[in-house]
Amino acid sequence: MFESERRLPVVVINDVSDTKRYMNALRASGIRVAEITFRTKCAAEAIALAVREFPDMTIGAGTVLDAKKCREALDAGARFVVSPGFSTDVAKLCGEADTPYYPGCATPTEITQAIGFGFEVLKFFPAHLFGGINALRAYASVFPGVRFIPTGGVNAENESEFLAQPNVAAVGGTYLMKDALAAYGG
Ligand code: 3PG
Repeated sequence: MFESERRLPVVVINDVSDTKRYMNALRASGIRVAEITFRTKCAAEAIALAVREFPDMTIGAGTVLDAKKCREALDAGARFVVSPGFSTDVAKLCGEADTPYYPGCATPTEITQAIGFGFEVLKFFPAHLFGGINALRAYASVFPGVRFIPTGGVNAENESEFLAQPNVAAVGGTYLMKDALAAYGG
């Protein structure tokens, strides 16, 4: 997925009726992927709607903290699942569903554990608090097989610096949705 889409918008939808406008805004800004987060009650409904109405986009679920939310996300049709941390329950369900899972890892121990479970693409969150680009550079030499999705504190000004790191698969953040909406006219 991150060969063509290297910017992963973290999307928070409070009202399911906003879903179409949000997806249209992303598409208008050239982004065809969305991580719709389980931070709001309507997340599963918004994912199902986006999957149905935007078949040309890759719709996934974010902030998936446990098996229950993961089940909801998969049932809604999420094509990938993201967590801020690493959940073995979520990893297991995604493995059974053959759905990519991008768990959040920030420390060498967490990264080592994720490698042990077979993961090679990890969310790095919150990137700005855990050393940002300097940490990613240090991780490149000791975890050569791992690529990261830094999120947290990434923005339009610093995204290109992150994307230039060879071990960065993609950048993520809420800024992508905000900027797309602003360009789309709110
Ligand atoms: C996430 O879930 O990845 C973060 O909320 C993104 O952080 P940001 O708001 O700084 O982009």
